[in-house]
Amino acid sequence: MSKDKNKVYIFDTTMRDGEQSPGASMSIEEKIQIARVFDEMGVDIIEAGFPIASPGDFEAVKAISKILKNSIPAGLSRHSKKDIDACYEALKDAPRFRIHTFISTSALHMKHKLNKSPEQVYESIKEHVTYARKFTDDVEWSCEDGTRTDMDYMCKTVELAISSGARTINIPDTVGYTVPSEFTKIISTLKNKVPNIDKAILSVHCHNDLGLAVANSLAGVTAGARQVECTINGIGERAGNASLEEIVMAIKTRNDLMPYKTGINTTLLSKASKVVSNATFPVQFNKAIVGKNAFAHEAGIHQDGMLKNRNTYEIMTPESVGVKKTSLVMGKHSGRHAFKEKLNDLGYANVTDDVIQTVFGKFKILADKKKHVYDDDIAALVDDSLIKDKNVINLKSLKVFAGTGEPQRADMTLEVYGEIKKASENGDGPVDAIFKCIKKLYPHDVKLQLYQVHAVTEGTDAQATVSVRIEEKGKTTVGQAADTDTLVASANAYLNALNKMIIKRNKTAPEEYEQQKMKGI
Ligand code: KIV
Ligand code: ZN
Repeated sequence: MSKDKNKVYIFDTTMRDGEQSPGASMSIEEKIQIARVFDEMGVDIIEAGFPIASPGDFEAVKAISKILKNSIPAGLSRHSKKDIDACYEALKDAPRFRIHTFISTSALHMKHKLNKSPEQVYESIKEHVTYARKFTDDVEWSCEDGTRTDMDYMCKTVELAISSGARTINIPDTVGYTVPSEFTKIISTLKNKVPNIDKAILSVHCHNDLGLAVANSLAGVTAGARQVECTINGIGERAGNASLEEIVMAIKTRNDLMPYKTGINTTLLSKASKVVSNATFPVQFNKAIVGKNAFAHEAGIHQDGMLKNRNTYEIMTPESVGVKKTSLVMGKHSGRHAFKEKLNDLGYANVTDDVIQTVFGKFKILADKKKHVYDDDIAALVDDSLIKDKNVINLKSLKVFAGTGEPQRADMTLEVYGEIKKASENGDGPVDAIFKCIKKLYPHDVKLQLYQVHAVTEGTDAQATVSVRIEEKGKTTVGQAADTDTLVASANAYLNALNKMIIKRNKTAPEEYEQQKMKGI
C-alpha cells in the first residue's frame, strides 16, 4: 500500500454490490469487459463477485482474476469457512488478491438476522479473519450495518479484526442511514480510540437511501478513511451505492478543500459508465458526471456565457471525464448566439443574417412544439429557407379533413407569382387531395414519380421529411420539405419540386403563367 498519506484507494464493487440492484445481473462476458475497462482506468481493487453465491459468480471472479494487469481482484465472503474457501479458489490465479469477509455488528442485525449474541459475533471475527489470512495477507473485514452499531462495540470489533490480521477495515452504511456529520464522528472515533488502527486502512462503504452516499463517503475520507467503496453509475442494492465517478471528480475538482488523490484516469469515466449501463440499465439523463445532460447547456443565458468563457457554467471540462465536447442543446430556451454557433458547427457558416433571422424564428416555433430539436431538424429548417428564397409558388395555408367516413378534403391557399389563390378539393386520401389543390391553383402536367415520408428524428413529435420526385418532358426534379405535420411537409415537398421544375424550364415560367392566365385556366 502507498506511503502517500493522501492517497485514496478506489474499491469498486459494481460487479458485486452493483449487481445486487434489481435488473443489473451481468453475464461473465459483460463482467470481463467491464473489468478490463476498470483495470485500465486505475481502479485499485475490483470486487468481482461473491463466489459462493452461484457458479456464475464463481466463474466470473475466476475469469477476472486471470486477466487483471493492475487492479487487485477481491471476492466477498460471509463469516463461513466454505465462503472463504470459495473466495480463495476463485481468486487464486491472480498474483495478488483480497478476501473480503463481513458480519453484522448492530444490535438489530445480531439479534434478528444472525440470532447471535455480541460475544458470539466477536468470537466469529477472530476465527474467520484468522482463517482468511491463511490464504492471503490482504484481508478486508466489514462490520455490516456499521453506522447503526454501538460505537464502543464497534471499536472493540475493529481492534480484534486488525489484531486477527485484517489490513483493511470497512465501515458500511448498509442502509444509507447516516449523515455526513455523524459519519465524520464515527470515523474520527475509530481513528482516535482503536489502539492498533494505524495497522489498517479505514474504508467507507455508503448506500444511497437518503441520497447522501457520496457526501457521506467524502465526509469519511475527510475524517481519515483512505479507501472508498463505490460503483460506476452509483448502481447497487435499493437506491444504490456511492457513485465512483462522483467521488473521484469531487476530489479532483475540489482538491482545494479535499487535498487527496486517487489513481483513476478520469478520462475513462464516460467509457466505464457506458460499458456498465450497456450491461445493466440506462443512466438517468441528469446523472452527475456521466448523464447525457451533465455537460449540456440549454438556457440561452447559460449558452451565451459558455460561448464567452466556459468557466461561467462549467466546473470541470467534459474532456476530463472522456466526453468529447460540451453540447449546446437547442431548445426553446436557447438564444441567438448559441443558434448561430450551432449553424456554424453544422456547416452553415456563410448563411446571411436574414436567413439566420428567419430560421431562428422558425426554430423557436418548432422548439415550442417539440421536446428535442436535433441537429437534423435545424439543418432541415435552413435548407428549407435557402430554397424558399427562389420559390415562385408558396404555400400560405392548408387545412386537411381526413379520417374515416367522409372523402378526404384539402382547403389550400397558395401564393402563385405574388397572387393569392384558394382551392378546395376532395381526394383519394389527404395527400391526393393536397396535390389536386396544387394542380388546380397552378395547372401543370408533371408526373409524380415518387412520394416518400421519413421521420428525420425519433418519437411521435418527430419532424417528417417528405421527398417528392416529379417528371416533365424527360426532366425530373426532387423536392423535399420537413415539418412536424406530415401533410404540410407533403404539400411543401411537392411545391418545392414544382418550383425547381419551373426554374429548370429555363425561365419560361412567368410567360407560361401569363399565357395560362390569359386562357383563364
Ligand atoms: O452494504 C453492506 O453492508 C455491504 C457489505 C457486505 C460490505 O455491502
Ligand atoms: Zn453494500
